[in-house]
Order: sequence, then C-alpha cells, then structure tokens
Amino acid sequence: MISTIYRQNRKLAEQMLSAVRRASQDVQKPKTAIVMLNMGGPQTVDQVPEYLLRIMTDRDMIQLPVQSRLGPWIARRRSDEVKKKYQEIGGGSPIYKWTDLQGKLLTQTLDKMLPQSAPHKHYIAFRYVPPFTDEALRQLESDGVERAIIFSQYPQYSCATTGSSLNSIADFYKDRELPNIKFSLIERWGSNELLAEVFAERVREKLSLFDESVRDQVLIMFTAHSLPLKAVSRGDTYPHEVAASVSATMSKLQVPNPHRLVWQSKVGPLPWLQPYTDDAIKAYAKKGCKHMILVPIAFVNEHIETLHELDIEYCDEVAKEAGVTQIERAAAPNDHPTFIAALADVVQRHLSVGPAVSRQFLSRCPHCVSPRCQSSKEFYKTLCGITEKAADKTIA
Ligand code: FES
Repeated sequence: MISTIYRQNRKLAEQMLSAVRRASQDVQKPKTAIVMLNMGGPQTVDQVPEYLLRIMTDRDMIQLPVQSRLGPWIARRRSDEVKKKYQEIGGGSPIYKWTDLQGKLLTQTLDKMLPQSAPHKHYIAFRYVPPFTDEALRQLESDGVERAIIFSQYPQYSCATTGSSLNSIADFYKDRELPNIKFSLIERWGSNELLAEVFAERVREKLSLFDESVRDQVLIMFTAHSLPLKAVSRGDTYPHEVAASVSATMSKLQVPNPHRLVWQSKVGPLPWLQPYTDDAIKAYAKKGCKHMILVPIAFVNEHIETLHELDIEYCDEVAKEAGVTQIERAAAPNDHPTFIAALADVVQRHLSVGPAVSRQFLSRCPHCVSPRCQSSKEFYKTLCGITEKAADKTIA
C-alpha cells in the first residue's frame, strides 16, 4: 500500500517537474536573435598579442605587403606598447562590458515594444577577441531561434570594420549548411534621429561645464577613427556617413558654436584621412581657440581610443602643451537611455519596413576588385533570402 502511494506520488512529481521544465524552456527559448557585431577589445592585457595578431592579419581591415609575415611581425613589435596603454586604462577594454549591458537593455526594451518577435536575445559577436562571431552563430543555432538580426554596432559602415565582420560570417557558413533561420542585416544607422539626439546630449553635458562667457565660442570637434586614403579613393562610404552623423547631431544641438570633423588613430606610414585630431588641437590653439570639446562620433562605447588616445594623450598631454585653457571629452553613448531607445528604434524600423538586406550593402565600392567582397555580397543575398530577380535590381 505504502509503496503504491510512493510510486504514484513519485510519478506525479516527475510529471510536474517535466511540465515545469518544458514551461520554463518555452518561456526562456529566444525567438529573435540580435547579433551585435563589433571589433571587440582585449579584456585583459594577456589578450593583447592575440588581438593584435588577428587585426594585423585581417586583410579586410588592413592590407600590407607580404601580410602573412609582416602582420605577425608588426603585432609582436607593438604588443608591449599596446599592453602598457591597456594597463593605463585599468587593465583591459570595457567594450565587452558595455556591449553586454547595451544588449541586455536593448532586448528588454524590444520584448516590451515588439511582443510578436519576443523573446529577444542578444549575442555578442566580436571580430578580434572572444566571444568570437562563430561562437555567437553556433550559440544562436543551438538556442533554436527563428530569426536572427545581424546588427552592426558601428553606426557608420566601412568595408574595413562592419565589412570585415560580415565577411567572417560568410566564412563561417562557407562549408556549413545554412540553418533554418530567417536572417536579416542592419549594417548602417549613423543618421538615426535618436542616435543624433544622444550625441547632442553628450555634447550638452560638456558644454554646461564651460563658463557662460565662453560657452558659445567652444569649438566642437567631432573625432572619428581615420581611414587609409587608399580605402577612401576606392569609394568606402565611411567618411560621408560619419559626416552625416555630425550634421544630424548639429541639427539636434541648435547651438551657435563652430564645429569640425577630424580624424584620429592613424597607424603606419601611408597617408590617411586628415586633419588628424591632435594636429587640429594644436593648430586651433595656435589660432587662439582655447576652449574645445572632443566628441567621439563613430563608436558607441568607451574603448582604448576614447580612454587613452583622447583622454590621456590628447586632453592631458597635447592640449596642455598647446596652451588650451579648457578641453572636455564627450562621453560615448554607453548606456544612455536615449541610446538604448535609438538601438530599439533601429531594430523596430528594420523589422517593420525592412529590407532584409539593403541595396546599399549589396552594391560595391566603385573601385573594389576584391573577389572576397563579391562573394560576400552574393552570400548575403542567399542568407537573407533575396530572390534573383530582386537581387538583379540591387546590384550597382
Ligand atoms: Fe568596399 Fe569591396 S572594398 S565593397
């Protein structure tokens, strides 16, 4: 009798447990993946050598003669200097921390805004440090998502940055069957109104730190990672997309201050897009302009170029030496609520009006001769389910 009651209760308990497990799996199983592409940054100084090696051997990012030998050599040579910089900003890059937080806040917002595609889950897909793009793709496949939105976290498109991350996704699926997931792509969003608003807000925060007597004269210097002139001449759209972000931000700001777009972080001996940020600070100081704000306009979270290059090298060293009276650096968007709203707005518009992949992305730079770019564009037509007829019209 006792053993029968025990058996019945046990059976009941097992049934209840399995029902609870099924229910919790149903609740937690993500329906829509948000794949957040970015270059990433070393979280510890130990990751620096491998990070540099990956950058220096990525031909989408940088083209060097005899790259397979020269790339590793440059990575080794620069390793100690770069490690020192990461040590000076606290021992590692905060890109992962910010991207993860942005992803969590974004998906929480999307779950409320778009119940039809919920639950949403973010997947961090870095190019040069873990978690790598292929890990993110494996994870979303094993989670069994129904659709995946590949969402570049570089607002302005460049073949060297977003293009490189997208090529790495094409590489991943080269020898694998495509999963039964509806993929689509957001590769640029630098002119989004809410993004412009958050940049404007970051500038306002710093303008308020200047004395009223000089506030209207403060020079607003938007600064973005430079690009080799070779890439600019090839037709990379990055410079004009960054300029569009600057323009959109100034429209939101509605202030009488002068502004300029300048370029930072050049590497190597070849010519890059100018004027360089440090040269501009010195030149303006010489002309008598002593109040400035630096605004990183092409990156959505703090990283080595904001925390070291702008804060330490330019604001602390270059500006002081040049005799600048006051220089401030606007914060990156990070977790500003308007920025999270911008991310959600971009995804919502994408889901409501598309397209799955833009004609702008499918067209190539006028002087691009790279077979890798050609095959990558073809791959995205297939991945995002663009029909041949429609695709014919999209190719420039
Ligand atoms: Fe721009 Fe190939 S380099 S599409």
